[in-house]
Amino acid sequence: MLVTRQPVLKRFWYPVMPLSYLSDRPQGFQLLGEKIVLWLDADGKPCAARDRCCHRSAALSLGSVNHGQITCPYHGWQFNSSGTCVKVPQLNDDTTIPKTYKIPTYLCTPRYGYAWVCLDNNPLKDIPHIAEADDPNFRLIQEFYEPWNCAGLRVMENELDLAHPTFVHTSTFGSEDHPIPDSLDIQDTDYGLHVQATLGVVNPEMQQKNLRMANRETTRTLDMDWFMPLTCKLRINYPNGLVHIIVNTPTPIDDSTSQIVQFCLRNDTEAETPITDVIAFDRQVTLEDKVILETTDYDVPLNLSKEEHMMTDKPGILIRRKMAALLKEQGEVEQVL
Ligand code: FES
Ligand SMILES: [Fe+2]
Repeated sequence: MLVTRQPVLKRFWYPVMPLSYLSDRPQGFQLLGEKIVLWLDADGKPCAARDRCCHRSAALSLGSVNHGQITCPYHGWQFNSSGTCVKVPQLNDDTTIPKTYKIPTYLCTPRYGYAWVCLDNNPLKDIPHIAEADDPNFRLIQEFYEPWNCAGLRVMENELDLAHPTFVHTSTFGSEDHPIPDSLDIQDTDYGLHVQATLGVVNPEMQQKNLRMANRETTRTLDMDWFMPLTCKLRINYPNGLVHIIVNTPTPIDDSTSQIVQFCLRNDTEAETPITDVIAFDRQVTLEDKVILETTDYDVPLNLSKEEHMMTDKPGILIRRKMAALLKEQGEVEQVL
């Protein structure tokens, strides 16, 4: 499946940028092949529009923000959050601005510290609901924001693939003694999938400190959610009550590139585990995945006969089936290379 060629993918929300990136200036981003500009309006709310001025097509992301209005770097035209041109410096009277001076805007809303964008005015689903983000016992830590050369669906199934840690996460938590999960239970949901599993893992020294556990071997009890199409939530429950939740969206830039947007939530304090230590461990884990995922084909086939499968691939198989059903529902044919 090629993400830019399936129009239905425009009907979902994606986190495109940490809100902190917008505090000084507008920023450009490419979402599903569409160049967009993001900025903060006068109330500090994020806005998104096509990154192309309707005058001479200059990139608005190179401009500035004045009183919440995006200002073109070429001749200074200003547009509000609805895309209406509200100032043309070359005209004496703003009331004479032609109504055709307009740029297309997109749905944009802040959530979990990021600007989320939907390219279609009629989203099929809400932004994934992460209940712990509203729970005062949890702190939210922004972890990674970087492009990877791979398809988002590969990242999604990798998150739910409990056979890879033994081989990929050799320096972090993979256990040679546990090549498969002890249990794996999958439920279909209206938002995607809910997967419960237990997996034996090892804890290197750094992780023993982060988890405040002295033992090298432990069991992770996993509560995982796949929010169609490209968000995964991994709730990792440790025997000592510590909960580490990873929320990851490989926001689709184009067919072969994804912007990894990852944050985590933990029910401990900075004094117990400093943010830098939490990020350092997850960084190591994430880089182990990256090196492999970037070697995979970005045209992920939804057609199951195109790749071989095994028992632990069940979540990935269901992801493909649900994506294929979504396309069918929308009257779309899977686009491939
Ligand atoms: S190109 Fe934007 S104001 Fe001229
Ligand atoms: Fe992994």
